[in-house]
Amino acid sequence: MMICCRKTAVQIFRRNICYVAARNFGLVGSDRFLEPVFPSINLSISRKMSSKIRGTKRLEGTDENVWNVYTKMAADFKAVNVGQGFPDFSPPDYVKEALANATAGDRHILNQYTRGHGHPRLVNAISKLFSPLMGRDIDPLNEVIVTTGAYGALFCSFQAFIEDGDEVIIIEPFYDCYKPMTLMAGGVPKYVSLRPKATDGQSSSADWVFDEKELRSAFNSKTKAIVVNNPHNPLGKLYTREELQMIADLCIEHDVLCISDEVYEWLQYDAKHVRIGSLPGMWDRTLTIGSAGKTFSVTGWKIGWAMGAPELIKHLVTVWQNSVFHCNTPAAEAVAIGIEKEMSRFDSPDCYFTSLPRELREKRDQVAKLLSEVGMKPILPNGGYFMLADISGIEADLSGEEGETRDGKFVKWMIRNKKLATIPVSAFYSASHKKMGENYIRFCFCKSDETLNSMADILKQW
Ligand SMILES: Cc1ncc(COP(=O)(O)O)c(C=O)c1O
Repeated sequence: MMICCRKTAVQIFRRNICYVAARNFGLVGSDRFLEPVFPSINLSISRKMSSKIRGTKRLEGTDENVWNVYTKMAADFKAVNVGQGFPDFSPPDYVKEALANATAGDRHILNQYTRGHGHPRLVNAISKLFSPLMGRDIDPLNEVIVTTGAYGALFCSFQAFIEDGDEVIIIEPFYDCYKPMTLMAGGVPKYVSLRPKATDGQSSSADWVFDEKELRSAFNSKTKAIVVNNPHNPLGKLYTREELQMIADLCIEHDVLCISDEVYEWLQYDAKHVRIGSLPGMWDRTLTIGSAGKTFSVTGWKIGWAMGAPELIKHLVTVWQNSVFHCNTPAAEAVAIGIEKEMSRFDSPDCYFTSLPRELREKRDQVAKLLSEVGMKPILPNGGYFMLADISGIEADLSGEEGETRDGKFVKWMIRNKKLATIPVSAFYSASHKKMGENYIRFCFCKSDETLNSMADILKQW
């Protein structure tokens, strides 16, 4: 029985890998890949399973995942996918070459394990890059940890500091993994909302603000941590220094940890990114999390990091060494080379940290214009990969679509009828606040001209 189950699980795993690979390499839709994949999952679910061998309590309520639903549907309908957050254009050539050289060059050792919680060349590069930005000398060996993407750093942070019953303040809408990571660590999420101020004309992500009283009242003696995502996904908001100072003051007053997810840190448009960890008194209570995936347009490499005081980082190291332990050495070497190169041309317009946002800003404006032309009201983001659009004025017959909220039905309708895939914004809200997101859908504008032109063709015929 066990052998049989294991075999089935392996088959499902292999088929899913085929599906994901097929989707990413443009093969999805070919019957060869799609047909056998999803029916097999249903079959396995209906098998009679042991009642003792079941998922743990800490997994309860964490199994939903928005990406599975809409990415599958986008693939099934061969839709132009401007939902998921990854660039579909090439990373800088020299970064790709650095990765190839790391495996093919004379230094065979780069194909082997490296230092567990951070390849030496990479932690050195991170410390050199961020020391001036944080206004302090960052110790590469004790104040930086390299993980499997920013996701890995987030996971270690929650596991390292959240105990049963600890409250974690999450500002919504929020990047979807914060809630399950809080729950899996035994924590209790407490939500504070960003709400749009009334504006005349073009609205922007800067119009979405939290209420100071609401934020203040979320802090209490049980609060262990607050998650700040800056630049923000999905809004593209860049918090102002004043907003961050308000959060910092509350963290200090209530002795709270700040988990600051800054993966889109270089992508700033018409606003300046402020690092909360650089504010007075915050280094010792902030974990600043970054991603090479977003920095160099290499999301598939899954290299990320966290920086902070040694007393914080040492606990992430413990989680890391007892779980994944190690990152991919060649990718870590190539990211280090990338950071070194960009540091050497930091003030030049060719620096990727400047040229990528310059290009994305143009894409942002192009997408905003297209959306306005069909009557969707874009919320111009000040940072990141994404733009929300208000779809409350768009008529669509959603009677045939399943779902709790209008945005979810709208996205399904749009994929089916317009062959355009986005993400419904209610997915970025807690269960009882989903209605707050239902007038919005999220577009990813970090896409090739070809993808954006295909999107434009669809919108022009709307
Ligand atoms: C806000 C935010 N944090 C973290 C991540 C995960 O980053 P990584 O791919 O480096 O794990 C993402 C990815 O989309 C994100 O949008």
